[in-house]
Amino acid sequence: MSAVRAVVLAAGKGTRMKSVRPKVLHELCGRPMLWYVLRALRDAGIADITVVTNGDVLPHVAALASDAGHAAVASLLQEPQLGTGHALSVALGALEPRDGTTLVVNGDMPLVEPDLVRAVVAARVRALALVTARMPLPSQFGRIVRDGDRVAKIVEARDATPDELAIDEMNAGLYAYDETKLRRAVAELRADNAQNEYYLTDTIADFVRQGEAIVPVVADDYRSVLGVNDRVELAGAAAALNRRLCERHMRAGVTIVDPATTYLEPDLEIASDATILPNTAIGRRSRIGPHSDVGPNVRLQNAAIGAQVVVTDSIVIDSTIGDYALVGPWTHVRANAVVGTGVRLGNFVEVKNASLAAGVKASHLAYLGDAEIGERSNVGAGTITCNYDGRRKHRTTIGADVFIGSNTSLVAPLAIGDGAATGAGTVVLRDVAAGERVVGNPARTLPRRAQPNSALSND
Ligand code: UD1
Ligand code: MG
Repeated sequence: MSAVRAVVLAAGKGTRMKSVRPKVLHELCGRPMLWYVLRALRDAGIADITVVTNGDVLPHVAALASDAGHAAVASLLQEPQLGTGHALSVALGALEPRDGTTLVVNGDMPLVEPDLVRAVVAARVRALALVTARMPLPSQFGRIVRDGDRVAKIVEARDATPDELAIDEMNAGLYAYDETKLRRAVAELRADNAQNEYYLTDTIADFVRQGEAIVPVVADDYRSVLGVNDRVELAGAAAALNRRLCERHMRAGVTIVDPATTYLEPDLEIASDATILPNTAIGRRSRIGPHSDVGPNVRLQNAAIGAQVVVTDSIVIDSTIGDYALVGPWTHVRANAVVGTGVRLGNFVEVKNASLAAGVKASHLAYLGDAEIGERSNVGAGTITCNYDGRRKHRTTIGADVFIGSNTSLVAPLAIGDGAATGAGTVVLRDVAAGERVVGNPARTLPRRAQPNSALSND
């Protein structure tokens, strides 16, 4: 497909969205509509892409294209927006003419799949191949008017007669043109229609007049070409896309108990034999290892979850959870937290920018921020790392096998040595040595041989 150049039409105002946000930047399953179109083109092997945009979309195109996996795409301004035919004439005016296929894709068809892109490119023999789909009526799509078997023209719904409106074969908005012929036809377009716009779709009747045969590629499933014009269609497309994402993971061996309440995004890695329980949203390139159970009621964003982990009723953002860890219910792990193997985090525990070594336990009511906690240390209920002095953040370092009693306040910066312990309600203002036991406010040292447990309290 090296000779294929693609033009993505994404400059429309999207007035039916009733939004200050440009239509193609509205998101579904965590990515803007336009991202999906660019991803489908990438997956179809098309790298030469020009996006026709407006001033609100233009600043976002480069980042979107890069996130969708493109090295670079060109973008152009269409100002004012006088219709899809005008958008294409703006693009062609900026591109060096050359022989070959020019693929044209509406930017508002996020469900488009790479196979369909490949199929329409492969189907073009002369002037044009275009994707059509049979769909339930009523529909706002342009109608494919046939003369016998042959495609004769496309009529926009707003310009259609009642007979034409009864046609259930629609124009998808995905076309493979012979570029030279396209240039000639676009130059002929006129805006004499209900919307006073230059319709790209009028090129079809023009080609027919020139004796060109149009090759229709009928999509198997009309849902893959659904256009999004308003927020009802956006929600419908999001549901279809989510269903598709869930099905792909299920077919790859992931149990999804309730796809209807499981919200996925593209580019997730979920190992086989992981289980996703209801009401769970997984996004931003999260990864889940084998035999882990995630959900119900979990949100993961850019989270790396190991193998055999259980996360329930919790939020994990920009953080890593090690193998065999148990997280939740009601735990919030965020900001580059690294939770080690077999760690247990429970009810109302927040872990922020902290690293918890293997076997650490913090089962109830704690804030562990800007901290390092060594292996097997136990953090009692109500423990707070007091990391902020009103101006700056400070770190708390806790060694291995430390016992932090309930309701301990650790006023950072602070280091607590291996095997140390704090009693219930201790306010620690200074470093605690390895093996040292402290109680009270401010913390004072207990004699090494003091009766155990008199002032210490377990969780
Ligand atoms: C268009 C087709 C219709 C087809 C439908 C499929 C035309 C005239 N009609 O209708 O036959 O069934 O898509 O979804 O092409 N755009 C620009 N510049 C403009 C106008 C639009 O770049 O001046 C872009 C939009 O951002 C959008 C795409 O072109 O991504 C299609 O425009 P839209 O207004 O959504 O056309 P539809 O009415 O959906
Ligand atoms: Mg549209």
